[in-house]
This record gives sequence, C-alpha cells and structure tokens, in this order.
Amino acid sequence: MQIITSPAELQKICLQWRCEGVKVGLVPTMGYFHEGHKNLMKIAREKSDKLIVSLFVNPTQFGANEDLDAYPSDHEGDANDARALGADILFIPKKGSMYAEDHATWVEVPQLAKGLCSVTRPTHFRGVSTVVTKLLILTLPEYAVFGEKDWQQLAIIRRLTRDLNLPTTIINGPLIREEDGLAMSSRNAYLTQEERAQAKHLNAGIQAGAEAFKQGERDVEKLKAVIRSYWKEHLPLGKEDYLEFIDPDSIEPVTTITDKARCAVAVYVGKARLLDNWPFYL
Ligand code: PAF
Repeated sequence: MQIITSPAELQKICLQWRCEGVKVGLVPTMGYFHEGHKNLMKIAREKSDKLIVSLFVNPTQFGANEDLDAYPSDHEGDANDARALGADILFIPKKGSMYAEDHATWVEVPQLAKGLCSVTRPTHFRGVSTVVTKLLILTLPEYAVFGEKDWQQLAIIRRLTRDLNLPTTIINGPLIREEDGLAMSSRNAYLTQEERAQAKHLNAGIQAGAEAFKQGERDVEKLKAVIRSYWKEHLPLGKEDYLEFIDPDSIEPVTTITDKARCAVAVYVGKARLLDNWPFYL
C-alpha cells in the first residue's frame, strides 16, 4: 500500500488508471476507522481493481464551534487497517494541499441540504459536497462507497454526482452497529461510560417507534411521541437535535407514512452528536 500525500500525485496515478481501464474504488473517510469504515472498504475492494482510501478531516465541513481540533485520529492504526483490507493507496493530503488559500469554489445541493443536519450545521453540507467533488475529480473512481449512517449526506452525494456528470457509481454501505444497537461512529469515542451506557437507547427508542408502526400507526407526530417518551425515560442525558421522518430520496419531511419513510435522528449525548436512521417502509 502506497501512502500518498500530494493531490497532484494522486491525480496523475488515477488518470493513468482510468485511461488503462483499471477500475478504482474510492472510500472517502475522516479516519479513526471502525467496523463501519472497514465494511465500506470491503465493499469497494470486492468491486474494484484498485482500492483507494482517503483520510482527510475536512475543515470546511466543521462549524466554528465544532470538534475539528478534537476529532479523534490514529493514522498508524488506520494505515494498518487499510493495508490489511487490501487498499492500494491511502491518501492523506498534507496540510494545506486540499484548499488553496484563496479557495473560492463551492458545490451546493440546497434542495437536499436543508432541514435535518443543516439546521444546526448550516455550512456542513457545502463543505462535504465540495470535498467529495474534489476527491471524485482527483481519483475518477468507477465506484465510491459511503455509509448509510449519514443518510442526508448520501442523498446529497448521489445528486451531485448525477448532476455534475461525474463518472462514478455511488454505492451505499450499510450502517454498522455495536451489539447493543448503537450506530458505529468515530465520535462514539467522546462518550463517557455513563453516556455510553445510555447511548444504546437512541436506537432502542427508534425501535419502539418501529414497533408502533408495525402495529399500524402511520401518523408521524404519534410515532415521534412514542420515540420521545422512550428517550425521556431511558436517555435522560440525551438532548435532541432533530427527530424527523423524511422521504428517503427527496429528504422532504412526511407527516403520514403512505409508502416509505426514513426516520432520521441526531441527539447530543455529552460531547458527542449521535446520528441514526431507520426505514419505516410499508
Ligand atoms: O462521512 C464522512 O466521513 C465525511 O463527511 C466525508 C464523506 C469523508 C467527507 O469529508
């Protein structure tokens, strides 16, 4: 496995590969790998001739008071994992190499980047869309794999890839959970023991809603009430950022489930902001 730190060098290799018909699979990450990341790498590895993993804590997707400087990091452990999973290139761009000082070009998908995470993180998806576009242009992959934990992010990336005619197929990687149901995330590292013990109830609350849905409840306000009342009892350390039911493709809120809805949540537990989502499909 080669570790590359220069975007220009990465682009040179990838242009050559694309011309030779070598199929590249890309897994963009911010590092501190868990089983969710590793699974994305396995999916990309199986489909592609060459696997590229990028590791870049993208500053433009963090707000002023967010955890950019505290974001957990373990480059050595990550390199070992990527190598063990058959990566050909680990791209860790050197400081300052991804954005020129006078960087001025942004990719935005406002139709999908509203509501949910955008309410408390208004510039987040502009940063994600821009860096993902840059990574897709640098590597011109046949496939790029993104986790379903960030459902809104995935919808935005699919749309920008289609709208900008990028020559890449976007693949969904399933959300991977701890045994007690907590969605895996690098930010789970922020949880104290007490917070971690309660954090399992985030998904358990959604399951309480899913049970009511199974029993025939279709009214979103009533489903939300079931979930909130479960959280109130079992997740007192949690502070809701949002709890929404959305159309899985358009990300528009739904009020009654007539076909397919995705329950999407973000809850602060201590320093961690935990995301989860679940299908409510008829
Ligand atoms: O999901 C992430 O880890 C990041 O948002 C991504 C897609 C790597 C862009 O920085």
